[in-house]
Amino acid sequence: MSAAVLSRDAVLAAVTPQDAYGAVRNAFLAHWRGEWTMPPKVYVTNYPAGDFRAMPAIGGGHALLKWVTSFPGNPALGLPTVTGLVILSNAETGRLEAVLDAASVTALRTAAAGVLAADELGRDSGSSVAVVGCGVNGAETARMLVAHGRAPLVWDVDHSRRRTVADELGVRVADSLEHALSCDVVITVTPGRDVLYPAGSLRPGQHVSLMGADGPGKAEIAAPELARAQLFCDDWEQASHGGELAAGVEAGFVGRDAVTQLGAVIAGEAPGRRDDAEITLFDSTGLAIQDLAVARAALLGSVELDLPRLEL
Ligand SMILES: NC(=O)c1ccc[n+]([C@@H]2O[C@H](COP(=O)([O-])OP(=O)(O)OC[C@H]3O[C@@H](n4cnc5c(N)ncnc54)[C@H](O)[C@@H]3O)[C@@H](O)[C@H]2O)c1
Repeated sequence: MSAAVLSRDAVLAAVTPQDAYGAVRNAFLAHWRGEWTMPPKVYVTNYPAGDFRAMPAIGGGHALLKWVTSFPGNPALGLPTVTGLVILSNAETGRLEAVLDAASVTALRTAAAGVLAADELGRDSGSSVAVVGCGVNGAETARMLVAHGRAPLVWDVDHSRRRTVADELGVRVADSLEHALSCDVVITVTPGRDVLYPAGSLRPGQHVSLMGADGPGKAEIAAPELARAQLFCDDWEQASHGGELAAGVEAGFVGRDAVTQLGAVIAGEAPGRRDDAEITLFDSTGLAIQDLAVARAALLGSVELDLPRLEL
């Protein structure tokens, strides 16, 4: 049995940022309509070192399992925070079709979701935009914005990371963290150890896509700020248990009715931003259906590029 075995470089060659964006948009729609489904992700924890996540999904004639890590202390050891594999199978026959590097699939689908939410919920495309956190997923988010004709300001506590991403993409480093956080659209992709937005700090009209706090115990925003924003998430089941919204859910001031899933907005079945003064907040926990979208696009791209398959 042969399958496509796609390294990081192969995934990035096979899927352009535009491909990933379109595929992830369609996945949010298919998930909202119930055509693509996924059980909740399973965390296997080894805190404080990190955790493993098993993320299955089915849709579009394929089934997927992602086995992926988040080990926030790894960069200090010279190791990546996120590593793992994605397995893509034919949903009709069970036949294995592809094995892919999980970090690149994750980066493409995370970047796509953050930018997609900003496009749906931000005020307009002419507004200022910043990416805070220039690691693997933040750098890909900045690349996704550039691919969509936006020139983000970038910021990272690590001087060399922010400089490298800015130089690679031909964009500007923000003057300071505060400068980046005050942009009209801000996509945060930090480990979620530090609160970036303390109480009272979001500006009227801002949109924030909060990507970094994707599990229990992480936060990029102070919980009281949730009460100042119109709230959106990728998936209520996941977001209410881990991520930015979970603190408000636990404290009892964020209920199901107060939060709109992004898929409903894309489908035109729920309102997005209601006026220019509103603060919109998208909480991303990361969905297996996003991985499914990018893995399918990578398989298609690998066929078009005639990338070699391996006997397994
Ligand atoms: N929502 C999702 O779908 C999703 C997907 C992938 C990763 N994540 C999460 O995103 C986070 C980042 O992941 P990564 O793989 O890019 O990690 P990474 O370690 O590669 O990058 C994190 C970056 O954030 C920077 N940083 C740390 N604290 C900061 C601060 N206070 N201000 C500015 N920059 C700061 C670090 O210097 C580093 O460059 C993790 O928490 C990860 O679990 C979420």
